[in-house]
Amino acid sequence: MLANRLILFTFSIMLFACSEPATNTEQKPSQAANSNIEVGKDYHSFSNPESIKVTHIDLHLKADFTKRVLLGSASLNVERQVENANELILDTRGLSIENVKDGNDPLSFTLAENDPNLGAALHITLKPTTQTVTIDYATSPQASGVQWLTPQQTAGKQHPFLFTQAQAVHARSFIPLQDSPQVRVTYTATITTPPELLAVMSAANDPNTPRDGVYEFNMPQAIPSYLIALAIGDLEFKAMGERTGVYAEPSMLEAAAAEFEDTENMLEVTEKTYGAYSWDRYDLLILPPSFPFGGMENPRLSFITPTVIAGDKSLVSLIAHELAHSWSGNTISNATWRDLWLNEGFTTYLTYRIMEMIYGTDRFNMEAVLGYQDLQADIKSLPENDQILAVDLRGRNPDDVFSNIPYEKGALFLRELEHKIGRENFDAFLMQYFEDFAFKSITTDQFTAYLDKTLLTQYADTLSKERINEWIFSPGIPSGAPVPSSNAFSVVDDAREQWLAEEVQANSIDTKEWTVHQWLYFLNNMPRELTSKQLLELDTSFALTQSKNNEIAHSWLMIAVHNEYKPAYDRLYDYLVSIGRNKLVKPLYRELSKTAEGKAFAKRAFEEAKPGYHPLTISANEGYVN
Ligand code: BES
Ligand code: ZN
Repeated sequence: MLANRLILFTFSIMLFACSEPATNTEQKPSQAANSNIEVGKDYHSFSNPESIKVTHIDLHLKADFTKRVLLGSASLNVERQVENANELILDTRGLSIENVKDGNDPLSFTLAENDPNLGAALHITLKPTTQTVTIDYATSPQASGVQWLTPQQTAGKQHPFLFTQAQAVHARSFIPLQDSPQVRVTYTATITTPPELLAVMSAANDPNTPRDGVYEFNMPQAIPSYLIALAIGDLEFKAMGERTGVYAEPSMLEAAAAEFEDTENMLEVTEKTYGAYSWDRYDLLILPPSFPFGGMENPRLSFITPTVIAGDKSLVSLIAHELAHSWSGNTISNATWRDLWLNEGFTTYLTYRIMEMIYGTDRFNMEAVLGYQDLQADIKSLPENDQILAVDLRGRNPDDVFSNIPYEKGALFLRELEHKIGRENFDAFLMQYFEDFAFKSITTDQFTAYLDKTLLTQYADTLSKERINEWIFSPGIPSGAPVPSSNAFSVVDDAREQWLAEEVQANSIDTKEWTVHQWLYFLNNMPRELTSKQLLELDTSFALTQSKNNEIAHSWLMIAVHNEYKPAYDRLYDYLVSIGRNKLVKPLYRELSKTAEGKAFAKRAFEEAKPGYHPLTISANEGYVN
């Protein structure tokens, strides 16, 4: 079986070994190594870029906060890849299509049946001369990629807010387009909003634009559709450095700018190590707490959860992560969702490196250990197929397969390469990789073919193809992989062990100098079962239920739920109702759902929170409460 896989794999490498970096649509289909997956085929898009490709999108949209719809038009420039091709297929989800035109001439179209994961294909018949297709449409108030917030759900409570989240397959819920990461487009947009609000996009934003309710945008670099993003709200801007700044609601602006003041430095060290930043400005947008992710690397303007504003920069690796995507993800993108690890694994590797350059090796080691432990937990709980970097997502919604595998296993793989060939050499490789594939979308197989021509040739004595295949196509962590360690955690282990052995009392542990990471390590490595006496002692000594750090609170609440420590349940309820970030709330819902009483509690919190939750947070958690 394994031998078979290797033969197939070698065969597919031979096919690609001589091809130059190219967008995926230029490749011949072949079979992937680990199954009969067609390499480069996007199983999550109905579109047909191999025959007609969209190259530019011009949006004219009005945000109607009363009806909760975006209404207007998208004009798509098309380029025929096959002579005489006349059918353009686009992705949509929940869109009302009013009409489709070439200039003033109507074009005939049909909207196919809706697929629950993928939405509905829009088939448009072009004229032989058609170069631009204009679609008049409106989004649905339930669009999976748009969240409409009432004033009550914002920090300022005065104005409504809107934000989009397109990754992985949700751009189609607010724009009819070829929603595949292998299709790269430039875009322009005119967005009309209530005049007191500001619109920002993943494009060139002018911090000094007059606030008049009409905003123009230009994204001159070709990006995949999942990076198209829009937000509208009572936003103000504050510069953090020459090329960096932050947009936030007024009451959050100062705290955000202070928390993330190292962003400019991060940008500079990353450029020094991995090559010039390609996107002009790098700004942050702070969203309301319902944002379902920690961050989203929308180009030029990362979208950021406010839950990381801890007051002490303890959670700013998120910023390093979203910034790093400017290289790994936005400049080079995954060609299909199977290749997500190329985005997230490289970015996680870069994140650690950036954090080390800015905050030093102690922090690097601590974050590496915590990341490794998250990975180990996933390896324990996920089915083998989902432990593979190049994961098979056919027939599945990419949202359902979110885990630490593409992130931490991907990063660990790269760390092993680094250790084997030396840091300087590996950095030089990465810089060249970013340059060679700039503004391209690539598959795992293109990456391995590239490794063949580069590192595997240059370091033939040190690296082996079998080992690389094991990392990418086998479950688990290969034996002999690097294991991170941190001296700063030894004292924490000692303290925990002594306390568990009742050799010391909690309040006599010297925690004055402990960092947030040490606290997380202290809590995450407690035995699963603790007595109520032990929980009470921890809580009275360290006020864990009251922790303002959302990660520490999360770790503590996980312990509290598992051990039914009721004094923390008011806090737990508030936490679930006020935060929509899935990484923080989903494990709590999952843990609560394990007992009837917990489930009833979870249901109460969920029902109260639901009107404020993002569609993705609702769909990720409703199974735990119903
Ligand atoms: N691009 C991801 C978010 C994402 C991934 C959205 C896949 C949809 C599908 C973003 O860069 C990310 O990784 N966010 C993490 C940050 C963390 C690892 C530092 C998050 O939101 O938790
Ligand atoms: Zn990421």
